[in-house]
Amino acid sequence: MRSLNLLFVLMSVLIFCSCGSRVEAENVVSIIPQPVKVEIKTGTWELMPNAVIVYKNDAARSVAQMLAENLRKPTGFSVNVKNAKNGDIRLVLNEVADSLIGDEGYALFVSSNGVEISANKPAGLFYGVQTFMQLFPKEIESKDLLRVKWTIPVVRITDYPRFKWRGLMLDVSRHFFTPEEVEAYIDEMVKAKMNTLHWHLTDDNGWRVEIKSYPKLTEVGAWRVERYGAFGTYRDPQPGEPATYGGFYTQDEIRKIVKYAEERFVTIMPEIDVPGHSMAAIASYPYLCCTQDTSIKVNPGTEFATWYDDGSFKMFIDNTLNPSDERVYEFLDSVYSEVSALFPSEYIHVGGDECYMGYWEENAECQKLMKQLNTDDPLKLSEYLMSRVEKILEKNGKKMIGWDEILEGEIAPSTAVMNWQSIEKAKEAAHCGHSIVMTPTSNCYLDYMQGDPSVEPPVYASLRLKTCYEFNPVPDGVDEKYILGGQGNLWTEQVATLRHAEYMTYPRAWALAEDFWSPDARKDWGDFCQRLENQFERADIAEVKYSKALYDADIKIFQKNGRKWCEIGTEAPELEVYYTMDGGMPDSFSEKYSEAFEIPDGPVTLRVITYRDNKPIGHLITLDPKIIEERIAVN
Ligand code: ACM
Repeated sequence: MRSLNLLFVLMSVLIFCSCGSRVEAENVVSIIPQPVKVEIKTGTWELMPNAVIVYKNDAARSVAQMLAENLRKPTGFSVNVKNAKNGDIRLVLNEVADSLIGDEGYALFVSSNGVEISANKPAGLFYGVQTFMQLFPKEIESKDLLRVKWTIPVVRITDYPRFKWRGLMLDVSRHFFTPEEVEAYIDEMVKAKMNTLHWHLTDDNGWRVEIKSYPKLTEVGAWRVERYGAFGTYRDPQPGEPATYGGFYTQDEIRKIVKYAEERFVTIMPEIDVPGHSMAAIASYPYLCCTQDTSIKVNPGTEFATWYDDGSFKMFIDNTLNPSDERVYEFLDSVYSEVSALFPSEYIHVGGDECYMGYWEENAECQKLMKQLNTDDPLKLSEYLMSRVEKILEKNGKKMIGWDEILEGEIAPSTAVMNWQSIEKAKEAAHCGHSIVMTPTSNCYLDYMQGDPSVEPPVYASLRLKTCYEFNPVPDGVDEKYILGGQGNLWTEQVATLRHAEYMTYPRAWALAEDFWSPDARKDWGDFCQRLENQFERADIAEVKYSKALYDADIKIFQKNGRKWCEIGTEAPELEVYYTMDGGMPDSFSEKYSEAFEIPDGPVTLRVITYRDNKPIGHLITLDPKIIEERIAVN
């Protein structure tokens, strides 16, 4: 009896220790993005109710105040900020710059007596603070007061980014996001040390920035008829139907958001997308396009283009500025000059993507301009327009950046290229000596589905978390000096709310943040997944939405020798996959997946579920016979 009891106690200790070590490993230091160097020591430091944050150099004050604010909210502690040498948390700007850590790096030292964050620049202190916050128990993310022991491990961290451009793009044209929502989006991105918000402000579906010299852009162009359901399939605006959906940012609001971002070391880079994607501008001022069609409305998400398999397309509503009309250049001059004055960003994004030239080809004035340019290639018209935009930006002290279509014409070497179509395009840009921001659809498009299409909000393409994580922003054969960094792009055709924007952004943006910040050698998928568990809990407390699709089965249906086959992959480690084809609901007693299997003939429904530690963890995925046939047809 006694020996049985002893055995029981021993087993309990063993179980406790093995679980405990996993929990402890997660709780001790779990930072995203992974820092360059982390040395964990023994011991802890605890934040006390009378803690004081000190700084010596006034440039550090605003970071100190933001940190105090972050700490006060969940703890209820007073957390004072003082210009002094000694205190519990010291923010130090180096008198002699440490060349290793650069402008955004930091050193964070936690001892049992206190905390010191040192950096060359305030931005580095700010990123040190983001890491410091991640060392606390997850409850530090709470908006409400919580009673917790606010202890962090004794640790020394040295950290700095791999790339200087670490961005997210937010499309506010397809759906409008309020200033408060944009600021909330910034609040989250900075926790992952992202530093650039590419603000897609104009497109066919809404013009969102007040331009004083062209007031109709927001009186007319910011509003469309309201539609629900799948964007791209909506009914046309009906005669007399009021345009009630939309919104725009006044210049005062923009200045406020830019300042808010600057305080958090985020550069907001605006995009005014020309010469295509301009239907909202054309609805406001129809003379800007070749057809001068006064019936053109801000597009509410109706289909207005046919896309062909070779990537070409035809727009059957004119959404393109007329490159042969001088009034267009007056317009562009005013718009880009006003926008340049609003945004301190070094770069202004001019779009340049998916420009349909069919209306140019049918237009006599465009033909005349082509003759003058000694060409029969309408692409030269786009090049002509872009070179004039480049001069407008230059006059305003700005550099131009555009989607990689701008490489099809001749552009100045100082113009940067935002790579999206393929990695090959980045190689082309580097070959021509352009700086490049990497945002290829293959790894960076956050509007794509992140799990099985049967359980995700439908979008035409997929991008799973692991593919984001595996992204190396430097393509093979390209010199890293050309790569400014990278960016995740959130197009919002199917994203109407901030909660859904968060769901599409995270955790993929955390993976991208690690691609853009951490040394390649420090990246490890299994380790990232473990840190994500902690990150998910923190996001729950912060009330930030995210996707858990990494726990879902990745199902591929294909045809082999005239038979239907199924192959199932997993992303997160330690998942087990169970499935049924007999109509039953799968559980851990069902067939366990080990290798690709044949789906029998007949109206078979395939049901798949993932388990971890003997508990279901992923979505139940149900593929009925119709879905199975559809997937075979596209594979
Ligand atoms: C793009 O996705 N059209 C840049």
